[in-house]
Amino acid sequence: MSDVFPARPPVQRLRRLRAHPKLRELVREHRLAVSDLVYPLFVYHGRDLKREISSMPGQYQLSIDRLGEVVDQVSSLKIPAVLLFGIPEHKDATGSMASDSGGIVQEAVRLIKRQAPELLVITDVCFCEYTDHGHCGPMMTRPDGRVDVDNDATLPLLAEQAVSHAKAGADVVAPSGMMDGMVAAIRAGLDASGYSDIPVLSYAAKYASAYYGPFREAAESTPVFGDRRTYQMDPANGDEAIREVEVDLAEGADFVIVKPALAYLDIVRRVKERFAVPVAVYNVSGEYALIKAAAANGWVDERRMVLETLTGFKRAGADIIITYHALDVARWLKADG
Ligand code: PBG
Ligand code: ZN
Repeated sequence: MSDVFPARPPVQRLRRLRAHPKLRELVREHRLAVSDLVYPLFVYHGRDLKREISSMPGQYQLSIDRLGEVVDQVSSLKIPAVLLFGIPEHKDATGSMASDSGGIVQEAVRLIKRQAPELLVITDVCFCEYTDHGHCGPMMTRPDGRVDVDNDATLPLLAEQAVSHAKAGADVVAPSGMMDGMVAAIRAGLDASGYSDIPVLSYAAKYASAYYGPFREAAESTPVFGDRRTYQMDPANGDEAIREVEVDLAEGADFVIVKPALAYLDIVRRVKERFAVPVAVYNVSGEYALIKAAAANGWVDERRMVLETLTGFKRAGADIIITYHALDVARWLKADG
């Protein structure tokens, strides 16, 4: 017996379960699946247009007559859903084209439903692509002179837009403008128009993020003055996200989005643990651009990095992943499976 060399505790052999590939597969906790994915699409006015977005290689602005090609790919890869954004020809102060029954998104919904009825169509409900100033609703001047989005004037317009999407055949509506009361207004509008079965997927915790840069190029929705910090959340806040989700669920949201994804995985986890609703994470344009740029330089392995990132979203608690990588991921998973 020696006090000089005390017995060391036995080595804990955690590597045992990593030694064999089949064993690793067997004990794997989270699995990315094609059925988790939602693919965003940018529908653009005009004809015969498939224009690559320079900051989002592999993503396109598509005119209605070119949408079918991509919809074919999405549905043959068995991706369950698309998320539609529309870029109209004419913009005005209130974004009136957003609720036009012959508008860009409404036409796109009808085309997709005709071509691929099994594909779930989710529409983004907001005004920033439709207003000439690029903000998410009509503007007002506050008593102190500051110009801001008129929250309460936006609400009935949001309801009207959501109903027009439902009329066109949208399966789910996703309000993204971060207006107070938006979910209640949309829910009431849908119910009053006979669409009580259409779920609301609320962008409940949406941050004022630099990661939206490439999207604004794609959707031509950069505010011409100011920024979105009076309606989107401060990146420094976590508790506030819980309040946002709580309020949206109380107003009738069926499921919620946390956005962006990478810098907000703590929020995904907190929302998932706190509320018994499906949580979607939006892997936004800037996150996509980072990986694509590094991969184009040969600095990273794109496939491994994307799969690792998306698996991380699931580990954080996401049930649904909205991502521009969806087509690639579906192909990769298929090849692996
Ligand atoms: C607009 C909207 C934005 C995104 C989705 N809906 C951008 C914004 O708030 O400017 C961002 C999506 C992305 O960056 O991929 N309401
Ligand atoms: Zn908006």
